[in-house]
Amino acid sequence: MRSIRRQLLVWLLGGVLVSTLIAGAMMFIKVREETGELFDDQLRLIATSLPTRIVVQHQAEEEDDELNDDISVQIWDLDGKLVYSANAGPGLPKPAFRKEGHHSVSSASGRWQVFTEIRRGHLIQVARASRDRDRLAMKLALRSLLPFMVLIPLLGLFILLVVSRGLRPLAQLARAVGRQSPSALKPLPLAHVPPEIRPVVLALNDLLARLEQAMSAQRSFVADAAHELRTPLTALKLQLQLAERAGDDVQRAEAFARLGQRLDRASHLVRQLLTLARHEPQMGLPQRAPVDLVALAGQVIADYDDLAREQGIDLGLNAGDDIGLEPGNGDSLAILLDNLVRNALAHTPAGGRVDVVLARDGGHAALRVIDTGPGIPPAARLRVFDRFYRCGDRGNTGSGLGLAIVKSIADAHGARVTLADNPGAASGLMVSVRFGAGTGG
Ligand SMILES: Nc1ncnc2c1ncn2[C@@H]1O[C@H](COP(=O)(O)OP(=O)(O)OP(=O)(O)O)[C@@H](O)[C@H]1O
Ligand SMILES: [Mg+2]
Repeated sequence: MRSIRRQLLVWLLGGVLVSTLIAGAMMFIKVREETGELFDDQLRLIATSLPTRIVVQHQAEEEDDELNDDISVQIWDLDGKLVYSANAGPGLPKPAFRKEGHHSVSSASGRWQVFTEIRRGHLIQVARASRDRDRLAMKLALRSLLPFMVLIPLLGLFILLVVSRGLRPLAQLARAVGRQSPSALKPLPLAHVPPEIRPVVLALNDLLARLEQAMSAQRSFVADAAHELRTPLTALKLQLQLAERAGDDVQRAEAFARLGQRLDRASHLVRQLLTLARHEPQMGLPQRAPVDLVALAGQVIADYDDLAREQGIDLGLNAGDDIGLEPGNGDSLAILLDNLVRNALAHTPAGGRVDVVLARDGGHAALRVIDTGPGIPPAARLRVFDRFYRCGDRGNTGSGLGLAIVKSIADAHGARVTLADNPGAASGLMVSVRFGAGTGG
């Protein structure tokens, strides 16, 4: 990209130069035309003022001296014989008799401006080389252009000065951006910003605001994550000390078993954190392809079949025939359903049911996970999507990230997640994910 300063200088000076040359050419043409008329008058005047003596007696005497060297005079008799000649160069052609007045003729030596007049049985021809007229016109045109030529370098300096002044706000903007600290991004000042640069500053401020928002979200996420990780790590350390102090093999085995559980929970927390980080709204979806929701739900249910049986829960899939394919990312949608089924199984007592239902709802696919557990009280339903939020204290061992992950993935698919009571049982939760109903993309 070439510098704005240089571009402006080259184009403005180029423009001035071309305009000056065009003005010069026009001036040359005009001056040439007027000089031509002037010379015509001069030729006619000389012809008519030639003393009769010269015409009749062919004697020039001292009057010859009054003639300008550039002007040729020839007098011919009507038989075509040259009877008098002054200053006539070899190039001047013989006149065409019977053709009086102004005309221009060409000869081997160039063009001539000629005036002819027949007087007292003689043809008087007064001529001047057209070259003289051109030379004079060129001289006058160049002379009038000279001041502009001198002014062009001055104009260049002036343009540089004006452009430098004009670009000063850009340099000020660059300095203001350079002064920003990544830890505290502040909007750039809008005062004294010219209207041309205002949109840039507004766009930059918008970007800075979004950056600041994203960075503060990151900061609070890292702080929350560190805080959440500290608890299981402290518990792990405690369990390890207990195992070390164990009096006998039975106590030691119990302590190690609890240590194992704590480790499982800590690594589950780390896995959930990683999943959430990968589904941050800014990240978008890694890949999009048509997803067979029925096959995907069948796979997730198969994964939890054994666990459900162990817990005495009836886990089932109920899918309509018209579900079709949903554009999205299969891996992400499997994580979404996995979290919902795991939640349902974790909260449903033995003898209960967990149903995964796939249906078409208003032309869009809808996925529902319905359980017969205690449900979530309406007051808590808005908060359960917050990171690290866990309802109540029913010996909750989760990390509180599952539904936040579900929401992120649903948003990325333009789907909406809603919570409701289980419509077919005395208690229980129904989580609905409706595709094509949200704002995401
Ligand atoms: N099906 C459900 N029935 C009753 N309560 C639920 C159900 N699903 C979620 N909850 C409540 O919502 C809270 C948030 O759920 P979420 O899935 O976000 O976190 P979690 O299950 O505690 O942890 P994680 O899923 O990360 O292991 C849970 O602590 C739980 O109390
Ligand atoms: Mg969960």
